[in-house]
Amino acid sequence: MNDLIKKLVEAYGPSGFEDQMRDLIRPEIEPFAGEVRVDAMGNLIAFKKGSGEGLRIMLAAHMDEIGVMVSHITKKGFLRFTNIGGVFPHTLLGNRVQFADGTVGLIYSDRIEDRSKVHPLNKHYIDVGVSSKDECTVKVGDAAGFKRDFLAQGNRLTAKSMDDRIGCVVAIEAMKQLESSPHDLYFVFSVQEEVGTRGAQAAANKILPDVGIALDVTLTGDMPEARTMAVNLGEGPAIKVKDSGMIAHAGLVRAMRERAEESGIPYQFEVLDGGSTDARSMQIAGPGSAAGCISIPCRYVHSQSETVDLNDVKNSVNLLVELLSKPLNL
Ligand code: CO
Ligand code: ZN
Repeated sequence: MNDLIKKLVEAYGPSGFEDQMRDLIRPEIEPFAGEVRVDAMGNLIAFKKGSGEGLRIMLAAHMDEIGVMVSHITKKGFLRFTNIGGVFPHTLLGNRVQFADGTVGLIYSDRIEDRSKVHPLNKHYIDVGVSSKDECTVKVGDAAGFKRDFLAQGNRLTAKSMDDRIGCVVAIEAMKQLESSPHDLYFVFSVQEEVGTRGAQAAANKILPDVGIALDVTLTGDMPEARTMAVNLGEGPAIKVKDSGMIAHAGLVRAMRERAEESGIPYQFEVLDGGSTDARSMQIAGPGSAAGCISIPCRYVHSQSETVDLNDVKNSVNLLVELLSKPLNL
């Protein structure tokens, strides 16, 4: 699984610029889907027909990642930029970004008087190794994602975009392992989640699922002076109960817990005070759906060292396969 993870987490794909991600994922899922299509916004949608009297279930994992967009270029060729999604200024200094054509940029900030403070985003710039605006091949409106190699240390896996390439991996692995399902399944690799779950919203309004399940990362409470949160790395997939955008469907939460207990899959309950996922979009699309989320616990979310545990990833796949392969009584 690590080869697939490495391939996806190192790839380029800030929100709105997911085409390279789509090209990477498509061949992985085509052998396991009845039909694969791309909608107008760019969501990659794989359909697997059910074998019985099941429900219409939409799964969503987002292909996009946070990043930056060039807003201005100085005479000397330095790039000012704005954020794409939740980019925090204190994660920037000395980091590297990569543009669609492979150009690498170095981030630094204007002179700092007081080193105990962090400059806001608009006082940072990107250096792409040129001396003038004319030499610069990058243009205003070009987007970059962060650049950082994948790292595997024992079971700990670290990358710049576990959020949410690891959710994409869970969806792909579940498609591979799922032998049969009574349900009609729509695996959606969504776009523009990091700017407000926009892709999943459009897809869900077309699919009109009975059940919507997001596959995404969540925060943990197990680092020094972390937020108080009962989710720990390595203790199993987190069954989302609530975040700031959604209260999960109680019947779906119960079904997830029962499938986990029957199969001996470790699990935790997630109550996240902040953030949301594609599940919110699915919950309130069309006439509404029973929505929930299988969350992969992740430390250092929205930094360039987002870290998950391989066993949590495998158990997320197992839980999803158990859930989808049996009838669902909500
Ligand atoms: Co995110
Ligand atoms: Zn995410």
